[in-house]
Amino acid sequence: MEVLRGGGLVGLPTETVYGLAADAENELAVRRIFAVKGRPSAHPLIVHLGSLGAAREWVSRLSPEAEALAAAFWPGPLTLVLPRSTRASDAVTGGQGTVAVRVPAHPVAQAVLLAFGGGLAAPSANRFGRVSPTRAEHVVADLGGEVDLVLDGGPSLVGVESTIVDLSGSAPALLRPGGVTREALEGVLGRPLPSRTTGDVRTPGMLPSHYAPRAGLVLSSRGEAGQQASELLSAGRRVAVCAPADVAVPRGAVHLRVPEDIPALARALYDVLRAVDAAAVDVAVVVVPEEAGLGLAVLDRLRRAAAPRGGVE
Ligand code: TXA
Ligand code: MG
Repeated sequence: MEVLRGGGLVGLPTETVYGLAADAENELAVRRIFAVKGRPSAHPLIVHLGSLGAAREWVSRLSPEAEALAAAFWPGPLTLVLPRSTRASDAVTGGQGTVAVRVPAHPVAQAVLLAFGGGLAAPSANRFGRVSPTRAEHVVADLGGEVDLVLDGGPSLVGVESTIVDLSGSAPALLRPGGVTREALEGVLGRPLPSRTTGDVRTPGMLPSHYAPRAGLVLSSRGEAGQQASELLSAGRRVAVCAPADVAVPRGAVHLRVPEDIPALARALYDVLRAVDAAAVDVAVVVVPEEAGLGLAVLDRLRRAAAPRGGVE
């Protein structure tokens, strides 16, 4: 707690991924987050709060739809973008008129937020553009000496970031698929939740090349992964295949086994991307899940990881 009150940075476990947390009302501390992550300073951060009551102080108004989503999914892997109150500074919001708020469910995050009382700004605790951390060891390996304290809350149970829903306009929009499925959100909203990809540079999770391992990724299907791996091997590349255990993988390729079950795949996703790099291959052929439920978030992260590395490093 002294670390946070003193403007320090804490590696904070949440149910989605580990966050790099700092007092959201301390501008110097927030600036340090950007410096340590290597993230451009106009990119807004999510403010984490202990309860819906605390979140109310950061927004100017909670619409009935915001109330309904918060009641249904908080604490949990859902972030709401809402009109900001004066408590949310330009440093946190990137100068926008909205603020992103979330009440995480992880018991360690809950305990820290309860004791701290205020809001904690926390992006994922990885360097800009790289694979998000789902274990305390990942935070230490990626940001090491630049974090004042890393709390170990075990592996993150969801494994992909929170779903971001923009409720600041006339109709709700899905800005980033994540731990709460679109289907579940639509069930509560009682209307469709279309995706919105603004291409706005201030939303880094929305840049094409993100969450990227160093090796190249090729997205594939169960039926075609073996053939694609063979072709890459023939072309002299070192190849890994990320696929369930029963998928046949050609000799010479490294088989990185992934769960069949989608929630388990989401939980393992960032470990698998790290394993690709540890396997020292040039390219990994990845069998992708169906684009439904949590599969939407997994596929979104895999597509970004596979996208050309245009200057996001
Ligand atoms: O699961 C998560 O959300 C994790 C854990 C630590 O809570 N945090 C996380 O933060 O993924 P970060 O900074 O890596 O991603 C936050 C995303 C960014 O794409 C950011 O641009 C967007 O939220 N965002 C933040 N404030 C916003 C706003 N006012 N309007 C639109 N997008 C916003
Ligand atoms: Mg991130």
